[in-house]
Amino acid sequence: MIRVLSLASEAAGLVKTGGLADVVGALPRAIAGHGVDMAVMIPAYPQVLSKLCPPPAKGKRKAPASAPVVHEWANLFGGPARLLKATLDGTTEGPTLLALDAPHLFARDGGPYTDGSGKDWADNWRRFAALSRAGADVAGGVVEGMGFDLLHAHDWQAGLAPAYLKFAPPGGHRVPAVMTIHNMAFQGHYDAGIFSHLGLPMEAWAVNGVEYHGGVGFLKAGLEAAHCITTVSPTYALEIRTSQFGMGLEGLIQSRGNEVRGIVNGIDAEEWNPATDPAIAARFSARALGKRIANKRALEREFMLEKDDGPLFIVVSRLTWQKGMDVLTEVLDHLVGLGGRLALLGSGDAALVGELHKGAARHPGRVSLRIGYDEALSHRMQAGGDAILIPSRFEPCGLTQLYGLAYGCVPVVARTGGLADTVVDANLAAIHAAAATGVQFAGVDYQNLALAITRTVSLYHQADVWAQIRRAGMRSDFSWNQSAATYAALYRSYVTDGSPTPA
Ligand code: ADP
Ligand code: GLC
Repeated sequence: MIRVLSLASEAAGLVKTGGLADVVGALPRAIAGHGVDMAVMIPAYPQVLSKLCPPPAKGKRKAPASAPVVHEWANLFGGPARLLKATLDGTTEGPTLLALDAPHLFARDGGPYTDGSGKDWADNWRRFAALSRAGADVAGGVVEGMGFDLLHAHDWQAGLAPAYLKFAPPGGHRVPAVMTIHNMAFQGHYDAGIFSHLGLPMEAWAVNGVEYHGGVGFLKAGLEAAHCITTVSPTYALEIRTSQFGMGLEGLIQSRGNEVRGIVNGIDAEEWNPATDPAIAARFSARALGKRIANKRALEREFMLEKDDGPLFIVVSRLTWQKGMDVLTEVLDHLVGLGGRLALLGSGDAALVGELHKGAARHPGRVSLRIGYDEALSHRMQAGGDAILIPSRFEPCGLTQLYGLAYGCVPVVARTGGLADTVVDANLAAIHAAAATGVQFAGVDYQNLALAITRTVSLYHQADVWAQIRRAGMRSDFSWNQSAATYAALYRSYVTDGSPTPA
């Protein structure tokens, strides 16, 4: 059994702002059957703490058992910190969760990365340097009785951890590190002035260390120090070799050659299964698709959309430029003109929200919005929508198209990153071979998205073809099986004998 510490800034079920949380939350269970014992370590933000150390229930004096403290730091970047041990899903046999409780860094109202007004916390460098420092300590065996063979660091927030391991003083325990890029657009780039506070030796201030364009690059540091780099789809692994997608780090990626692997994300089959999902009005499967209509009717009511037999499009997304939401606002009239309706759930950019509201006001009963974050509603939308629109300009993997496939909500996607890898376009050959699972289009602009919507509406009205696309999607392999096996093999190749490393 290989023991891996997965270090990240979010994990589904505890704290989530996007797909990173889904992946970090699902991988430990998925990989357990492949000889990997994976523990997850994240910051103990207030919403995490309240789950691990719940206050006493009303009328009760005694609080339920709190998570035990397994390690303490007297001074972690300006204050005391402790490590709490629990399980990811709250059950006794679930995968291990380690939560870094450092009140001076994480005990605040707001999001994991931003304050209540959406502004990045000014001390994010300190918060995530601390997470990385503590993660490197734990991976290196600082917790008594808890040894690890390998560190798996996710995104820039964990990026310094491989560097802390690489630049550990002689005699320190150095486990190998894998660094995964979930999104190259977020790199954690800070002024050179923070370097002296990081506790790294001077030799780390180098082009092959943490230095990046005269400052400190957290993701860059992780990519330099890790034994192996992965990203979340084969196409994105190729895209980030180019300046269009590499965002300045394409040279580094190219220099690592074949070590940069693209491993596509899967979905958590317990959370996302239309046959068992407690959040939806009517459960269904590929064999009993007829039952799905009750979910469409429920969604129409919930969004106060006119009831009809035309296609109901959905969007579940961060409202950002990356996701092509500006182009979406431009095609609303076209979509409605074709007899379509749209239900959108999202949060993000205020200007985009304004434009979307204008579009919805032009089309009452046809375009309806929910601005905010609502996990259960996202399930009801995948279960009730006919097609999910994902016009991303870049998409390292994307999970909403996978949920769409699993729920018979046909994905209409831009041909980029993981979207290109996971959806089979309904061209004539693919339809003929019964292989089509969605609609792809190249180039995110009005013309191309409008044409993709026109194609989708036309497919929708060919009932047999549409049903075939739906079924093929539901039967495609969006599970973790293959990818978990690939991660396990990758870890194994860096852990020499596969035997436990002493703490
Ligand atoms: P990204 O991580 O870039 O946002 P992904 O498609 O990988 O994109 O993951 C997004 C995740 O966040 C999915 O689980 C999706 O269902 C969820 N999500 C996005 N926006 C919302 C929202 N407003 N309410 C509920 N879930 C959302
Ligand atoms: C990032 C990417 C998204 C990916 C997710 C999980 O948020 O934007 O494409 O699915 O990470 O890997």
